[in-house]
Amino acid sequence: MASSALICETEQWKDLKAHIDDIKKTHLRDLMSDTERCKSMMVEFDGILLDYSRQRTTPDTMDKLFKLAEAASLKGKINRMFNGERINSTENRSVLHIALRAPRDAVIQSDGKNVVPDVWQVLDKIQEFSERVRSGSWVGATGKPLTNIIAIGIGGSFLGPLFVHTALQTDPEAIKSSRGRQLRFLANVDPIDVARNITGLNPETTLVVVVSKTFTTAETMLNARTLREWISSALGPEAVAKHMVAVSTNLTLVEKFGIDPNNAFAFWDWVGGRYSVCSAVGVLPLSLQYGFSVVEKFLKGASSIDQHFYSAPFDQNIPVLLGLLSIWNVSFFGYPTRAILPYSQALEKLAPHIQQVSMESNGKGVSIDGVVLPYETGEIDFGEPGTNGQHSFYQLIHQGRAIPCDFIGVVKSQQPVYLKGEIVSNHDELMSNFFAQPDALAYGKTPEQLKMENVPEHLIPHKTFSGNRPSLSLLLPSLSAYNIGQLLAIYEHRIAVEGFIWGINSFDQWGVELGKSLASQVRKQLHASRKKGEPVQGFNFSTTTVLKRYLEASADVPADPPTLLPHM
Ligand code: F6P
Repeated sequence: MASSALICETEQWKDLKAHIDDIKKTHLRDLMSDTERCKSMMVEFDGILLDYSRQRTTPDTMDKLFKLAEAASLKGKINRMFNGERINSTENRSVLHIALRAPRDAVIQSDGKNVVPDVWQVLDKIQEFSERVRSGSWVGATGKPLTNIIAIGIGGSFLGPLFVHTALQTDPEAIKSSRGRQLRFLANVDPIDVARNITGLNPETTLVVVVSKTFTTAETMLNARTLREWISSALGPEAVAKHMVAVSTNLTLVEKFGIDPNNAFAFWDWVGGRYSVCSAVGVLPLSLQYGFSVVEKFLKGASSIDQHFYSAPFDQNIPVLLGLLSIWNVSFFGYPTRAILPYSQALEKLAPHIQQVSMESNGKGVSIDGVVLPYETGEIDFGEPGTNGQHSFYQLIHQGRAIPCDFIGVVKSQQPVYLKGEIVSNHDELMSNFFAQPDALAYGKTPEQLKMENVPEHLIPHKTFSGNRPSLSLLLPSLSAYNIGQLLAIYEHRIAVEGFIWGINSFDQWGVELGKSLASQVRKQLHASRKKGEPVQGFNFSTTTVLKRYLEASADVPADPPTLLPHM
């Protein structure tokens, strides 16, 4: 395939388009009765089992998808990523988040330079700094140990670290190493988020980590200035040096902000924001909370999947299989959505993180060469821990729209509970749902079955389940730091595979810019109207009307108010 040609023009794509009609004639009930087929759709790597037998695919479909991967030069594109080529062409950057978790002796080149020593220099600095803070040898301005961390950041500088923190919070090893410590995240520019973050915390015992790749993000910078004020109004301006550190690629702006460059932790432009959890973005706050040795296990889990993704044949390659199945569901079946359903409360922030990784990466309208795409890319991701979802949106998933589901289960609970006299443990109860739901979706329930159960005639249409709804299941051995790293990398690479096949740039995000620049026009107007009484102008009728209403209804805000911090 010529590099600028679209994948939909290839014979392999057309072949799949033709094949879908055959598949539509089959029901998952029938596909599931073929044991050989199901056997071929189980893949295991490093303790993780993927079962994709409940996808609307046959071995023939999979062959055709592998041929599509070949037509899209998937292997070549993966190699280009691992070789540090500038595959993010609109930003002229390589994409090397895999280097962030590579072993110390690995060699990964960007622009002819091995980046792994730089990565480890920062990791060593984080280890040393976090041990000083945790041991109490680095103290706050009044000599007290810093036991509370507030990480300020948004998007990729927030969601990944929040996901990992939430997953580790109930892990026995992580509990032990974080006793007496707190980690909070301030993301939203809403002052309510500031209030929630500082409530109950004493600036004397709080360390603020400002996390921003660019160090220009409006929300993060205002929150950073707000917490700088919170610290300096309580402890004096010199206290900032002891109570604020930063993670950024822009060390010049870090220094300008007033943070000592020695207390800045670098990363590089070859790390995309949403792929940055394994850089200092995640590793610093998480090491402060849990200790570096726990976080290192998380990095090792991600690295294990990196090696698997790079070297496993496609029919045994978990991220590749997941990516191809997504392409099948989105581009051929036309299912626009994907539900991420972990049967683990510890994974409650997985879906919010994947929403960004997936939708910011693959929600594109043009090919990597700028050609308007005649097909949709990206998935609409959403999710909740499974059993909570069952009592919320599963009605729609079972009888309304068909939504391919990722079921994620764990063999050993982080926090087992057994009650004498109960027929199963609490974790078995949870996992009963993990095993039941995929079959309920696949098989459904026919009117004939309902008749046999003597269901009244008028209720039969309401109680019928059409089934034939695809899902896949991932079973993890436990939820250790290592497994959490594996899960993260599986999703990261799956999303890259989808982008590689669709022929888009999964590593830029120009779509977030327009809203930002319009907000800055509104910010200027609000300033001019409040401070100088200037009329609202330059906006369309609707925006002008609502802006005026907002200004008039809050006219009691003084033109030049004194500093006010929240109190709850
Ligand atoms: O607005 C989107 C975005 O650019 C994301 O891609 C990024 O993760 C987030 O903003 C935060 O950016 P930064 O880390 O530079 O503050």
